[in-house]
Amino acid sequence: MSKKPFILGIETSCDETAASIISINDDGSPIVLSNVVSSQVDVHKEFGGVVPELAARSHIEKIDWIVKKAIHDSGINIKEIDAVASTAGPGLIVCLSVGLSFGKAFAASINKPFIAVNHLEGHALSPKLNSELNYPYLLLLISGGHSQYLSVKNLGEYIRLGTTIDDAIGEAFDKTAKLLGIEFPGGPQIEILAKKGNPNKYDLPKPIFNKGGCNLSFAGLKTAILKITKQIKTEQEKFDLAASFQKTVVEILYKKTKIAFTEFEKQVKPKEKKFVVAGGVAANKDIRSMLIKLCKEENYEHIFPPIELCGDNAAMIAMVGLEKFKLNQFNNLDFPAKPRWPLDEKAAFLKGAGVKL
Ligand code: KG4
Ligand code: ZN
Repeated sequence: MSKKPFILGIETSCDETAASIISINDDGSPIVLSNVVSSQVDVHKEFGGVVPELAARSHIEKIDWIVKKAIHDSGINIKEIDAVASTAGPGLIVCLSVGLSFGKAFAASINKPFIAVNHLEGHALSPKLNSELNYPYLLLLISGGHSQYLSVKNLGEYIRLGTTIDDAIGEAFDKTAKLLGIEFPGGPQIEILAKKGNPNKYDLPKPIFNKGGCNLSFAGLKTAILKITKQIKTEQEKFDLAASFQKTVVEILYKKTKIAFTEFEKQVKPKEKKFVVAGGVAANKDIRSMLIKLCKEENYEHIFPPIELCGDNAAMIAMVGLEKFKLNQFNNLDFPAKPRWPLDEKAAFLKGAGVKL
C-alpha cells in the first residue's frame, strides 16, 4: 500500500454516538488517531433502559459535531479520508439509520468508498487496534445485547459455537442492578458493590450449567434475584447479593468457556490457541481475571481490548473498515440498516427461542 489509508468510522447502533479516525503505522499495524464517544446515559437514566426514539433524536443532534471533532482531533484534513465505515447493524433501526445515512452522505460528498460494518464484527476485531492478532481465534462476545462464543476463522468467516438462549450477560447485570435500585446501566455499579459483599451469601441457580454445550442462559438467575430482593433489608445484604450474582456469572463463564475451548479445537484445529474477549462486559475485572486464569490452565493466549475499547466505540468500526479497505470490499449506497445481522448467518436463531438440550 503506497499511501497510508485514513478511515473514518461512525457508530450509532444503540446509545453511544461515536466517530473515529484510524490509520496504520510504518510497520502496518493500526493506529487510532482519534476516538470520540458521546454516551446518552443521562438521556435514558430515568426510563431504566434505552428509549429508541430518544436515542435516535440524540444521535441526530450530535452526529455532525462528533464527526467534526473526530476529524479535528486526528489532525488530518477531511480530504485525506480514504473511506467511510458506518455501523449498519445489528441494533435499533432508528438509531442505525442516523449513522448509516450520515456515513453514506459523507462518503458521497468526498467521493470516497463507503463500507457497511457489522457492529459485532467491530467488537470481534477491537483487540486488533492494540495487539497483533492473526486468524483464527476463539471469541467470547459479551455485551448488553449479545453473549456468544464464535470461531473467528477469517475476516467475515464466523462459526457460532454457543449463544445465550435468553438474556445477554450485560442485560443480566443491568436487570440485577435495576432490582437492587441502581440506575441504568448498572453493570459497572454491580462490580463496585460486589467488592463490599460476601459472594457466598446467596446460592443462585446456574441455568443449563450441565447441558446445552457452551450455550448460556441467565433468565432464571434474574427470577431468583427478584425473590431475594423482596426480602433484603440492609445495604450489606445488597452488597452480598451483587457479589453472589457476579460470582455465579463468573462460575458459569468458567465452565462454558472450557467447553467452548474444546469445541473450538475440535472444529478449527488451530496451530496457536488464542482467546479474545470483547464487548462491554469484558471490562469486568472479576470476569477478566477468571478468564486469564483459565487461559493459563488451558494453554491459551488471552487477548482483551483495552477497557476504553470494550464498550461501544467507532475505532472498532473503523478497524473493520480498514480490513475491508485493504481488500477493496466496499458497499453500495443502498446498503440497508439491518436490525438483525448475525455474524454466523447459518446458525439457528436461538436467542429467546429456546434450544434443544
Ligand atoms: O458492548 P456494550 O458497550 O454495548 C452493547 O453493544 O451492548 O455493552 C454494554 C453492556 C451493558 O449491559 C453494561 O452494563 C455492561 O456492558 N458492562 C458491564 C461492565 N461495564 C459495562 N457489566 C459488568 N461489569 C462491568 N464492569
Ligand atoms: Zn456493542
